[in-house]
Amino acid sequence: MPADRRVIGSEHVERASRRGRRHIEVLPGTIVTAEARDSAARLRIALRAGPLDRPAVPVPDGTAALVRGLYRRGAKWMPPARPEGRNPVRFDRLAVVGAGGVGANVAHLAANAGMADEVVVVDIVPGLAESLAVDLAHASGLTRSRSRVTGGTGLGLVAGADVAVVTAGRPRAPGMDRADLLEANRRTVRSVAESIRTASPGAVVLVVSNPLDEMTVEMLRATEFPRERVLGMAGTLDSARFREALARTAGVEVDEVEAMVLGSHGAEMVPVVSRARIRGAPLERHLRRAQIDACVERTVAAGARVVALRKTGSATLAPAHAVVEVLEHLRGARAGAVPVSVRLDGEFGIEGVVLGVPCRLGPRGLIEIEEIPLAQAERSALSRAAAAIRSRIDGAERPVGAS
Ligand code: 2OP
Repeated sequence: MPADRRVIGSEHVERASRRGRRHIEVLPGTIVTAEARDSAARLRIALRAGPLDRPAVPVPDGTAALVRGLYRRGAKWMPPARPEGRNPVRFDRLAVVGAGGVGANVAHLAANAGMADEVVVVDIVPGLAESLAVDLAHASGLTRSRSRVTGGTGLGLVAGADVAVVTAGRPRAPGMDRADLLEANRRTVRSVAESIRTASPGAVVLVVSNPLDEMTVEMLRATEFPRERVLGMAGTLDSARFREALARTAGVEVDEVEAMVLGSHGAEMVPVVSRARIRGAPLERHLRRAQIDACVERTVAAGARVVALRKTGSATLAPAHAVVEVLEHLRGARAGAVPVSVRLDGEFGIEGVVLGVPCRLGPRGLIEIEEIPLAQAERSALSRAAAAIRSRIDGAERPVGAS
């Protein structure tokens, strides 16, 4: 055997597995022992014929190597940095409709992040949006935010908005399902939609009112905007809750968990277990099946848990952070796909219904839906979610709004 031939043994595979690797490159001439093949099958590590294409080498800033050198003996998995976008835009005008718990916190976070020249808040309750604007103006003396916040009761204030975040509508009371809000919030969302359509015909609309997927359909129909500009925020929040549940159960930090929730923002939520990772490894490496199932259940019931404790409304802070995350994707400050509700036109085999799926976004809204591979059970769960939403929407037999 030539001296430069490499041999891959089972200890090599086990070491790769401990480091969270998903595949091993097998270069021409390399010998892979039978034990190594058995270990690879058992640990679900792919043996891939090389040489493999390499991603562009990131320019190292030395920090990761320094941290490893100082604090760790061996190479260990480190959480990847959140992918940041290049050249994020600053919105001229960000409108927030509804100054309740979610709307007020969105205005606060957006102003603090300085993502818009002006944040305008609208609420039909006299004084509510104005008082919030005054309060945030006072806070800017400390936060140094350069975003001007204004507020009022007239929906005409949304005029000229680049993005309109719609949080208006009734929240859930204990024991209520999000779907129980359908009739009450449909009227509100319709009237908001009509104002946006007239006053801000070029806006991207981000719906937050519940039931989320159905309200996004209402917004699409009433504005007659293309699907690219009518999005719903739910999967970002549900994904955050799933990540938190997994991290807490596995005893790791939240930034060591990657996980996504698709489907509806309700009982038919689809936490994507097959693609979730803890420290870069599949969930089964860290958690028992029963623990994973419990995390899924906790995610689906997360919103109801807050409602049951609070008794007078639903969650506000996590949803507001999730809205801001979507806004960051829209303005290009964050790269990659984010789960957002959007009308599907055949993606994932689903047609004419709004559903949470991974989306790449930009200042004009949806750029593209990322059709990630899913386990068969997850694809079926997505189809069931689509059927459930369809059955809840009055007249849903006809396709939703045309582009
Ligand atoms: C939630 O899940 C309000 O629907 C929102 O908390």
